[in-house]
Amino acid sequence: MQIDILTLFPQLFQGPFSEGIFQRAVDRKLVQVNIHNIRDYTHDRHHTVDDYAYGGGAGMVLKPEPIFEAVEKVKKDTGLREGVEELPVILLTPQGRLFSQEVAQELASYSNLVLICGRYEGVDERVRQHLATDEISIGDYVLGGGELAAMVVVDAVVRLLPGVLGSEASAQDDSHTMGLLEYPQYTRPEVYRGWAVPEVLRSGNHAQIAKWRHEQAILRTLKRRPELLDRANLDSAEKQLVDSFKKL
Ligand code: ADE
Repeated sequence: MQIDILTLFPQLFQGPFSEGIFQRAVDRKLVQVNIHNIRDYTHDRHHTVDDYAYGGGAGMVLKPEPIFEAVEKVKKDTGLREGVEELPVILLTPQGRLFSQEVAQELASYSNLVLICGRYEGVDERVRQHLATDEISIGDYVLGGGELAAMVVVDAVVRLLPGVLGSEASAQDDSHTMGLLEYPQYTRPEVYRGWAVPEVLRSGNHAQIAKWRHEQAILRTLKRRPELLDRANLDSAEKQLVDSFKKL
């Protein structure tokens, strides 16, 4: 997958993408991330990227021209055929649709993504209307800009790409993948400060272990995020389990 990120602060992206799973994915050419400075697409002496809002009011608005030109250059360089191959152009904004594991899975299916990081008080509306094909928010709070949001989206998407995680199973079991939170995990020592690892996990009985984990995932979801269970596609045995947990 190729991901092109347009930002006014390219240096912010240096840290998060140079560690661990991500760096390995880049080294193995499973993903390529290109960071573009929107300021490089200005033509005036001062490299102006923002301007006053029509109608007045506090705060500056990002100008449309450099953003359009940057996206158009990126689009051209991808070699994708316009109207034939789909290229999502995503504006990160608190006004977008809410990001989730489901949205991450949807985005992971594309060959290319373009992410536009908004800044300051806003982005000229024509960017939303005539350039972005999608708008994403990572939560109902306002960040200083779209950069951290873009990193969140990229992180969640890249770990879903085939071959990025060691075993395909590790993304399958993640919290939210099944619509449930993840079950409790333990490693050695078997007893730490008097707290023992649950007996069943040491039993070697794989069927029992799978059953226990699944029950724990349901129980944990019920306790912490009950609203997720409504969307989790439970079968009748699982629904019974929920009912019995509710009675406890
Ligand atoms: N930019 C500012 N706040 C944001 C948010 N919550 N999600 C995405 N982009 C943003």
